[in-house]
Amino acid sequence: MDILLNLSIKKPALMKIKNLLILSLAFLAACKSSVPLETEPITIKGKFANNFYLGTALSLKQINELDSIQSALIAREFNAYTAENVMKSMHIHPSKDTFNFAASDRLFDLAKKNNAVVHGHNLLWHSQLSKFFEEIKDSTEMVAALTNHIYTIAGRYKGRTLSWDVVNEAVEGDGSLRKSVFLEVMGAGYLPIVFKLAAAVDPKADLYYNDYSMTVPVKKAGVIEMVKNIQAAGAKIDGIGMQGHWHLDSPTIEEIETSILAYSALGLKVAITELDIDVLPRPKNVEGADISQKAEIDILNNPYTAGLPESLVAAQTQRYKDIFELFLKHQDKISRVTFWGVNDGDSWKNNFPAKSRTNYPLLFDRNNKPKLAYDAILSLKD
Ligand code: XIL
Repeated sequence: MDILLNLSIKKPALMKIKNLLILSLAFLAACKSSVPLETEPITIKGKFANNFYLGTALSLKQINELDSIQSALIAREFNAYTAENVMKSMHIHPSKDTFNFAASDRLFDLAKKNNAVVHGHNLLWHSQLSKFFEEIKDSTEMVAALTNHIYTIAGRYKGRTLSWDVVNEAVEGDGSLRKSVFLEVMGAGYLPIVFKLAAAVDPKADLYYNDYSMTVPVKKAGVIEMVKNIQAAGAKIDGIGMQGHWHLDSPTIEEIETSILAYSALGLKVAITELDIDVLPRPKNVEGADISQKAEIDILNNPYTAGLPESLVAAQTQRYKDIFELFLKHQDKISRVTFWGVNDGDSWKNNFPAKSRTNYPLLFDRNNKPKLAYDAILSLKD
């Protein structure tokens, strides 16, 4: 049975075949003995196996399997892994001629052991960017550096990577292209070039553009225009990653739905890439998930250090339920839903946008116990 389960998670479509096989085996087993059948424990990855991959981001500590209880939970509940940090350029390619694959190799090994897929995050991003890219002033030199970067990293994991965030966060809040070093040195032409490089090195991996605030109309319009330009330049782009760094009240379900439909209308898959539901007050002047933004910590924006009030637990439970209902409704368009972290204690949202707060954004509590939100999405009807 395990072998079948393991095989099946490679592609949700195969789950249907698996289910048939399991039913047949169960039937045969039932014929042989009158002992009641043991049912497989229900998990979120099992629950959504016919719908989309169910993923999580993994920290270095989790990749290194330092906590055996959490390691078991990760293996049991998730079938797609994203490195929370270790594959960003400052870690994996810290200087021009140095690559550091120790942690990412372990991530791929862990995924293999657990029969999970790996989503690569990311090949190009202005944040957590290796310093040497910032120093490049010449476009020929930049193309050479990007070619080396993408060929070496995507090449190492070729055939083992489900998909890549080829470009992360290249559009500003007003819909214009972000003034990154890549735009400054190469102009907008850098975008199709990096997608072409990624497609050349690993033609089978799905190639994504990933960003936050993807439901805000002006940003959405900018992303759509950028994607159309990438497509018009003849580059392969397969999907849009909507970072789901969302709140209890925003974006609305309707805004999320309209956006899924708009990105899908470009002929692309849609992945919800970094899901967490922030329950804390929003400090002023901080929108989206621009990691360079910082808010002052004060008592007013860190009110739940002793636990989350029941009313907010209920609100978050309902919010997760509504969101997953929407995902199921559009499962034909959605390739993957990935949580940005495993348990509330791990979440980057304890430190963003203000440092050292107590947030509760995920499905598992600080003791790795499933929350009511977990039960709520497990009990959804397909
Ligand atoms: C965050 C990580 O979770 C933090 O540990 C790190 O300090 C900063 O980056 N958008 C992204 C992610 O694409 O890579 C970011 O991850 C969160 C925002």
